[in-house]
Amino acid sequence: MITMTRSFPAPRSLLLGTGGYVPEQVVTNGDLERLVETSDAWIQERTGIRERRKASDQEAASDMATAAARKALEMAGISASELSMIIVGTISADQPLPACAVHVQRNLGVTSIPAFDIAAACAGFLYGMSIADQFVARGQAKYVLVIGVELLTRLMNWNDRTTCVLFGDGAGAVVIGPNAEAKDRTARGILSTCLFSDGSQADALCIPAGGSREPLTTEGIEQRRNKVHMEGREIFKNAVRNLVSSSINALEQAGVSAGEITWVVAHQANLRILAQVAQRLEVPMDKFILNIERYGNTSSASIPLALDEGVRDGRIKPGDLLLMTALGAGLSWGSAVVRY
Ligand SMILES: CC(C)(COP(=O)(O)OP(=O)(O)OC[C@H]1O[C@@H](n2cnc3c(N)ncnc32)[C@H](O)[C@@H]1OP(=O)(O)O)[C@@H](O)C(=O)NCCC(=O)NCCS
Repeated sequence: MITMTRSFPAPRSLLLGTGGYVPEQVVTNGDLERLVETSDAWIQERTGIRERRKASDQEAASDMATAAARKALEMAGISASELSMIIVGTISADQPLPACAVHVQRNLGVTSIPAFDIAAACAGFLYGMSIADQFVARGQAKYVLVIGVELLTRLMNWNDRTTCVLFGDGAGAVVIGPNAEAKDRTARGILSTCLFSDGSQADALCIPAGGSREPLTTEGIEQRRNKVHMEGREIFKNAVRNLVSSSINALEQAGVSAGEITWVVAHQANLRILAQVAQRLEVPMDKFILNIERYGNTSSASIPLALDEGVRDGRIKPGDLLLMTALGAGLSWGSAVVRY
């Protein structure tokens, strides 16, 4: 476990801008009824998802990531040439090699800064934000672009109703920069982050083939072993427990109580998971910024997309206290408390 507590009282890095992007094509539950044995009623009742977005054949993850990044840079009032680092949370990069982040870097016309991917699945954005926070707070980086992007519709087995109804495509981005005027914990910025993984659960959510353990073969492709496999029930139980415990951890590190939280910006895998998290943290559901109904599970994009929507529609205001929490394949999970 890694928890990042400030040894000083004031937050040193803050969110300067947010951006989001979703592809145009909408795939409704009704569309999926024509593909697999499922129903709109089952999907809505068991997950809270009504529709999701699907990237066009011409779009790759870095295209979506770049679109979200440009919006975040614009809101931050920062030009791409001022960036010190680009971090992308993704498991659906354009290619196995090189990183999605260098494609974003090229799209933005930037050179000579580090650009790398984080493979922490749905927790990828939180991992990236935590790393950015360390560099900015220590003064080793000024402006860091952190992106969560997933093009998961390309990684689905469209014959498997237990996974294909859940996921969607999208990207979200933030620009993190120094908070020169921070005096105490009431100042705006990242107050705490905590990260965890448990490799004993690695098989519960995975893509079995296509790596060095099981290189891709024709047989593997036929058996869809290059697509997402998930033990949903197992993940569900772990998700509720770990999202709650890491949230409590992040709140304690930040020195705030759950009751003080203005908005919860959580990874959105299943509305029932979030309802149980809300109940255990004793935070009402109307404090959650939700997008699962429209976008499904967009993995690492889910938190920055929801954040961007909340900021742009005026729900999230400067000074609001945000709790972020995510869990995904690994298992990897984490939480953060941010005064926006
Ligand atoms: C996947 C998930 C939605 C399944 O919901 P669930 O309520 O746990 O459903 P179960 O897996 O217990 O399955 C119940 C039944 O519904 C069926 N079912 C599964 N998917 C279905 C679908 N799309 N449509 C209709 N029926 C479906 C199952 O086959 C099972 O049928 P059976 O009882 O005849 O065996 C849920 O487990 C989940 O959200 N898991 C966590 C996902 C997650 O957090 N992932 C990590 C982050 S990416």
